[in-house]
Amino acid sequence: MDTFTGRTVLITGASTGIGRALALELARAGARLALTARDAARLGATAAECAALGAEVLAVPGDVAVAADCRTAVARTVERFGALDVLVNNAGMTMWARFDQLADLGGLERLLAVNYLGAARVTAAALPYLKSARGLIVAVASIAGLTGVPERTGYAASKHAMVGFFESLRIELESCGVGVTIVAPDFVKSELHKAALGPDGRPLGKTPMDEPRIMTSEECAHLMMGAIARRQRLLITSRRGRLGRWARLVAPGLVDSLAARAIRLRR
Ligand SMILES: NC(=O)c1ccc[n+]([C@@H]2O[C@H](COP(=O)([O-])OP(=O)(O)OC[C@H]3O[C@@H](n4cnc5c(N)ncnc54)[C@H](OP(=O)(O)O)[C@@H]3O)[C@@H](O)[C@H]2O)c1
Repeated sequence: MDTFTGRTVLITGASTGIGRALALELARAGARLALTARDAARLGATAAECAALGAEVLAVPGDVAVAADCRTAVARTVERFGALDVLVNNAGMTMWARFDQLADLGGLERLLAVNYLGAARVTAAALPYLKSARGLIVAVASIAGLTGVPERTGYAASKHAMVGFFESLRIELESCGVGVTIVAPDFVKSELHKAALGPDGRPLGKTPMDEPRIMTSEECAHLMMGAIARRQRLLITSRRGRLGRWARLVAPGLVDSLAARAIRLRR
């Protein structure tokens, strides 16, 4: 894809963080945007910012864990813009808790329902239109989708599921001309960690991250713009993430130690 001008892009989880930053970048680049997330007020605010940059924008509040909402987001996008070129599966949630400290396993089910099944549901609804457009699916996974990370068992499982799903789908869609770009961000400053499920299954309420030391959502979105334009197979946003992918083949214990250190330092 040479340019985003006039392309229709549907972004899930577009109200805050990486999704919001990507929407703003795409608005500046001339894309037509359909944005979805649960909080209608925050979503409306992002849509208004995109419109102020000159973009045509549609906001469709919805929950990716609800099958009907996923279908509605896609149907309304196509109704409004007549096509769908790029689907960005970005909506997500996380957890911060050791597995042996979880009060129950409900959080693990919720993580799968939102991060993995939510992305699969929106993709299923979007697929006929993406095939017509020979478009692109972007899956915002995580480094935790490529390797194990302590205190993130449920999150890592949901992101590994996402990676396995989209790696497989890429092969199935090759003959249809639909591409799949998997994004594996390292830690990013956003609302994600504040809303993370803790050991009791409730949101932490404040971020445990060393925020000044990690990448901003805007920096992450900027890297994603290049990867999307190139229809890149995999984007890993940090050097340690890229090195870890290869180091894991020859020294997996070292990569485990680095993951444990990153969690201990919260960055
Ligand atoms: N931040 C990081 O360190 C990091 C690292 C690696 C990967 N990621 C991934 O990047 C993606 C974006 O996260 P972020 O860091 O930008 O966090 P964020 O600021 O919390 O953004 C998450 C977005 O997803 C939406 N969302 C959450 N649950 C939803 C649901 N059930 N249905 C629809 N929308 C939902 C949120 O809006 P509502 O609450 O209004 O629904 C929000 O717009 C996620 O998939 C995350 O796993 C983040």
